[in-house]
Amino acid sequence: MTLLAIETSCDETGVAVVRNGHVLANLVSSQTSLHAEYGGVVPELATREHLRNLPVLIQAALCEAGTDPPAIEALAATQGPGLPNALMVGLKAAQGIACALRRPFLGIHHHEAHLYSAWVKGDPPHADFPAIQPHVALIVSGGHTLLIHVPEGLRHRVLGSTLDDAAGECFDKTAKLLGLPYPGGPVMDQLAAEGNPAAFPFPRPLLNDAAYDFSFSGLKTSVRYFLRDHPGLADDPQALRDLCASVQAAIVEVLLAKTTRAARDLGVRLVTASGGVTCNRALRRDLASACARDGLDLRLAPTAFCTDNAAMVGLLAEWKLASGVPPDDPDGDVRPAWSLESMPARGG
Ligand code: KG4
Ligand code: ZN
Repeated sequence: MTLLAIETSCDETGVAVVRNGHVLANLVSSQTSLHAEYGGVVPELATREHLRNLPVLIQAALCEAGTDPPAIEALAATQGPGLPNALMVGLKAAQGIACALRRPFLGIHHHEAHLYSAWVKGDPPHADFPAIQPHVALIVSGGHTLLIHVPEGLRHRVLGSTLDDAAGECFDKTAKLLGLPYPGGPVMDQLAAEGNPAAFPFPRPLLNDAAYDFSFSGLKTSVRYFLRDHPGLADDPQALRDLCASVQAAIVEVLLAKTTRAARDLGVRLVTASGGVTCNRALRRDLASACARDGLDLRLAPTAFCTDNAAMVGLLAEWKLASGVPPDDPDGDVRPAWSLESMPARGG
């Protein structure tokens, strides 16, 4: 099956063409520099940019995949959660093409797409869904932090999520306190590489709590008070690196402790991680050593598939359609607050 997929849930416009589990084209137009001057994503600007970029990206993706509209056999788009008007641009475009070509359409849950992106591998990239075995999945992004139990294939159950800020949001907000540009996650990762993670003992929220939920807003607040009590500290280049490394160490320690504990508690032998924060080198490294220590296998989404992209949407949609999940109504509306918990057990 050849499927065209669109992702516009936030500030990346993504278009992909997938065929039989292989990624033929995966184009992303990032709006990061546009939103950077406002210190965060401005929804109206994101919508305008999606409208501007989407037609160009669709043309370019079809061209890169060496295909044309009549050859597209199915369409998919992120239906939620996300920014309502941003979602609308991609969803309505995909549904419109599906209607015009008389092809099936499937609306995809953004977090579910992230979840299964851990099964993308190889060059050229393809999905390794047949290899799925029971596992615990960590999804860490700017808008979500989720711990999920996947007993098999398309079945999944949310074990825990963040009670307040997401992990990526914590990176971005503390980076802002440190005077770093948006999005702060990649910049902190860069600076932390030359810093001392033990320099400042920031709190590890809910580290020893029995539940699998996360909370990161207290960590951000403690950084704010620390900077208030140590004025000018972040102006010193080495102190800034140490601050980045210390905040990063707190976030990473909580993420990997909960993830490996969930795997042990549930008796699974495999852990996966995906979502934008999975680009973080300390998280990738420390998760690998924690899993090795606990005798767990680890699958990390390839970094190119961690941040928002349409290939993860397309691969999941194609797999679902091939597994017998019925196509969606091509008139369906966006679902900005769609929760993963509300999905039926088979992810349909
Ligand atoms: O998955 P994603 O592209 O968008 C959402 O669905 O939210 O994730 C974006 C988030 C941002 O918060 C960004 O700062 C964070 O991922 N991020 C990182 C790194 N690269 C991206 N955080 C820490 N270290 C990184 N290297
Ligand atoms: Zn995302």
